[in-house]
Amino acid sequence: MTVESVSPQSPQSPATPAAPSPELREPPLAGGAVPVLGHGLRLARDPLAFMSGLREHGDVVRLKLGPKTVYAVTTPALTGALALSPDFKIDGPLWESLEGLLGKEGVATANGPRHRRQRRTIQPAFRLDALPGYGPVMEEEAHALTERWQPGSTVDCTSESFRVAVRIAARCLLRGEYMDERAERLSTDLATVFRGMYRRMVIPLGPLYRLPFPANREFNRALADLHLLVDEIVAERRASGQKPDDLLTALLEAKDDNGDPIGEQEIHDQVVAILTPGSETVASTIMWLLQVLAEHPEHAEKVRTEVESVTGGRPVGFEHVRSLTHTNNVVVEAMRLRPAVWILTRRAVTDTVLGGYRIPAGADIVYSPYAIQRDGRSYARPLDFDPDRWLPERARDVPKYAMSPFSVGNRKCPSDHFSMTQLSLITAAVSAKYRFEQAGGSDDTTRVGITLRPHDLLLRAIPW
Ligand code: HEM
Repeated sequence: MTVESVSPQSPQSPATPAAPSPELREPPLAGGAVPVLGHGLRLARDPLAFMSGLREHGDVVRLKLGPKTVYAVTTPALTGALALSPDFKIDGPLWESLEGLLGKEGVATANGPRHRRQRRTIQPAFRLDALPGYGPVMEEEAHALTERWQPGSTVDCTSESFRVAVRIAARCLLRGEYMDERAERLSTDLATVFRGMYRRMVIPLGPLYRLPFPANREFNRALADLHLLVDEIVAERRASGQKPDDLLTALLEAKDDNGDPIGEQEIHDQVVAILTPGSETVASTIMWLLQVLAEHPEHAEKVRTEVESVTGGRPVGFEHVRSLTHTNNVVVEAMRLRPAVWILTRRAVTDTVLGGYRIPAGADIVYSPYAIQRDGRSYARPLDFDPDRWLPERARDVPKYAMSPFSVGNRKCPSDHFSMTQLSLITAAVSAKYRFEQAGGSDDTTRVGITLRPHDLLLRAIPW
């Protein structure tokens, strides 16, 4: 299994941005704007349907969000062009709200030379040849998950998915026994922080969040504990005098462009910037995978049969993952229909061009992997859950950039292989032992937040 399976190649190339010429047009205004609020209400009410409908209005469209103009790109080729062009950087409302809470000096929000240097520091920990070193932890955590569940009992998929995602990221990347206890704290804190961050992003009423309401107090407590935890992890590693070959050592030993050690704040922000995107995204995807196994028992059965034939009935391990073709395709198809990262933004650093339209310097541009990955122009029967569409002979027909859940270009997720490996391993381990049914009170409708996940997925885990 490789992540290439989720980024099919085709002869199409993105429309490379070029210097704007004065006669270039403005992109058309998307339909449905109302006075004063523009498209804001429709976007707030049903963001997924809104983003999915934009391609009807053009390849690049203008949106009015109150007084502000935002641009949206709607075709796979143009999302590739946007992500690959140096004319756009990470910025805009999403990033500003993240920076304010999580720090300005981490890799996910930095730009320019600092970002390049930081990517060089973290990249080795995510390389393909580093993965076998994480195998034992991933296996242990995947099997521990199935052992925690009592046969026939109801599984709270939200907390279980968060827990395993945080434990794997923390134990693999920041190695150390102390992580076992800390991972629990981390997962509770992160769940609260993400909930609050999304609220602050969609309802940006700054002063309201300083009032002593219970939700604000809980958010502040979780955020403070998250930062405290990171300080504790760094301090303990230093006090231990040990330098295992892991991401934390790489961060502690990193040098800036002058060859001087990087500052304490940057070390701190870097740990936060790796743990935060690393947990919510994986946790949401695990929730959707469990939901898919319950909704499509025929694929759950097929995964189980595949795992059994590949492992010969032994516990599934890291070394089996590459051979689990159908399991991997189930993971990719779940990520196509429910991409954890459903919206991405960039800001133009210069006057530039996208799809033949003028984009002014400073403009915010958005696109939705959710909309792109469900578009009938790229996929036959786009809403069907059909893992076999990722068989090599069919995957060839998928247009380039129509399936890029980890993005492309210099901001591409460093963790694509790391994530795909753990997702396949977890899917295989739980499917080998259980089939799933919705339990009473379960609500698997889509909850739109910083990521997409089911509102409250409760499943009964039934032994085969
Ligand atoms: C960036 C998706 C898991 C760390 C990104 C981006 C996407 C993404 C789409 C690019 C954002 C952009 O273009 O603006 C995902 C998905 C995941 C996943 C779908 C799992 C299903 C992880 C994990 C980690 C991680 C497990 C770390 C442990 C990061 C970091 C960045 C990033 C540090 C920022 C990279 C940069 O700006 O240079 N991720 N991610 N991600 N991801 Fe992931």
